Amino acid sequence: MIKLNSKEIRERFLKFFKHRGHTLLSSASLVPENDPSVLFTTAGMQPLVPYLMGEKHPAGRRLANSQKCVRLTDIDEVGDQNHSTFFEMLGNWSLGDYFKNDSVEWSFLFLTSAEEGLGLDPKKIYVSIFAGDKDSPRDEESIFLWKKAFAKAGLDARVYGEETLEPADDNLKPSFRIFPLDKAENWWPTGGKHPGPQGPDTEIFFYWGNQEPNLAKERIGFNDKNFWEIWNNVFMEYSLQNGKYISLSQKNVDTGMGLERICAVFNGQKDIFLTDLYQPIIRIIEMESQLSYGQDEKITRSMRIIADHLRAVVFLLGDDSRLQPSNLGHGYVLRKLIRRVIRYQKVLNIPLENKNFFEQIARVIVENYAETYPELGRNFNYILEELKKEEERFHQTLDKGLREWEKISKKGSLTGEEAFLLFATYGFPLELTRELAAEKQIVIDEKSFREAFKKHQQVSRQGAEKRFRGGLIDDSYENVKLHTATHLLQSALRQVLGDKVEQKGSNITPERLRFDFSYPQKLSLEQIRKVEEIVNTAINSALPLNFLETNYEEAIQHGALGFFQNRYEKKVKVFTIGDPQKPFSKEICGGPHVKNTGELGHFKIIKEESTSAGIRRIKGILE
Ligand code: ALA
Repeated sequence: MIKLNSKEIRERFLKFFKHRGHTLLSSASLVPENDPSVLFTTAGMQPLVPYLMGEKHPAGRRLANSQKCVRLTDIDEVGDQNHSTFFEMLGNWSLGDYFKNDSVEWSFLFLTSAEEGLGLDPKKIYVSIFAGDKDSPRDEESIFLWKKAFAKAGLDARVYGEETLEPADDNLKPSFRIFPLDKAENWWPTGGKHPGPQGPDTEIFFYWGNQEPNLAKERIGFNDKNFWEIWNNVFMEYSLQNGKYISLSQKNVDTGMGLERICAVFNGQKDIFLTDLYQPIIRIIEMESQLSYGQDEKITRSMRIIADHLRAVVFLLGDDSRLQPSNLGHGYVLRKLIRRVIRYQKVLNIPLENKNFFEQIARVIVENYAETYPELGRNFNYILEELKKEEERFHQTLDKGLREWEKISKKGSLTGEEAFLLFATYGFPLELTRELAAEKQIVIDEKSFREAFKKHQQVSRQGAEKRFRGGLIDDSYENVKLHTATHLLQSALRQVLGDKVEQKGSNITPERLRFDFSYPQKLSLEQIRKVEEIVNTAINSALPLNFLETNYEEAIQHGALGFFQNRYEKKVKVFTIGDPQKPFSKEICGGPHVKNTGELGHFKIIKEESTSAGIRRIKGILE
């Protein structure tokens, strides 16, 4: 059994590809150069786009590296076993050189060879391939190559949904290991609506169960907790330009494997936070809180969030682009991450006066990584200074709020108005006020807090707009698109599940929509697929959006959906999508919306879960 730490796994990967003619590149900056469309580098291929399109790369046609990445789409999932905002992506590229054959063979070899790679058990490996559609054929070649690779390891791999498990002559026990999936799953960039270089991909999964998976219940490609996606091989042979797929002059390979996940898999521990990439951070948190990781759900989750966010913050501040916390763009992300850390620091009862806490953690992160990412060492003092400044800024607001709290709470009770003041003026979330109140055995009148909240919204025009937008906090184009997608989603859900479906809540960030609705049971995979299909058909039909102003009763009589009766003003707007006489969707809403659904791209449901009895929650994205 080989034993490797994260540094050795990273090195082993780079050495494996160096040995196969790849030039090793250093990581590009976390802030993409020349690409204002994204805040952060989210994949190793991003800095390579011009070369994937055909420009000559000075380092040759075979490249590999370990790229610093930040993905914010998953920020709400952080706290579980395998999500993070910052991660390292191990990647190898062929710029018009080798293609599927070497790519599949080498991936399998690296994962399973004990001499040159990681020596994983081939039985634990499952793959998906592109099922084919009108733009690109089914990836027969990858099926063939995977069968060949598995056969070398003594496994008879069959295609799920298409082949049987009838034993062949050679007596190997067959198993389903190859899963054809559509563009929403097996294409990069996901969904195939993003302009630029792209193509079908084949994704490699590690299965955590002890026996073979029960395919009726567990399925790769749908956030199944027992299948971890570990490596993606993209066969980039197209470019999407003005809505059309054009064949590139060269066929490229773009791969990406998350270091955190592969380290956890290699260690046989189903938790990235147990790897040596996080353990030194977790140990400091344990020491400072006098609590243990794994002790209970809330503690473990809080420790993971602190460890993840501070690692992201240290890498962001340590980037040569010299970011600073602020209220906008990159700076806002930094501020948000730091404030969330402080919030969870409080959950773990680590004193906020402990000025050493951030510094200790920043120090171990820089120590761990400075050899691989020397900029962290160069920018170490800057990291510490900015962390300190931002921490102090937040403490000042918090201190003022706490003084106000002491004053207010002296009388032994707290009105909703007062809780609201703490929220609106000092940024205290209700849960913090609730905790402070509990310490003094004061009960907050939450009903009157909500009333105060509502009243405030009624007097503030901006607040009123927010309410009508169903949680739309800014009108950036990303948010507006997701807002329109939310209307399509509600309509599609009612088509598939019936009119038991009623909106219970909605929240939109630039990355994703979240929609809560009434429905008594979990949605099946088929229902989810159907809903996605209906939304995407509406998008592809390029339906126009229109609105008219009327009063609430009129709107409801004419069939508009609106589930927050007592929250609407006298005059309401009714938005229709499609022919206003026979609309696909008709809802009372304040807007804003896009002009035409054709602007939306491709819609995908990334999560379906329960929030409370009878209420389901869907998270969806546009790609
Ligand atoms: N660019 C591909 C990904 O990020 C490899 O998954």
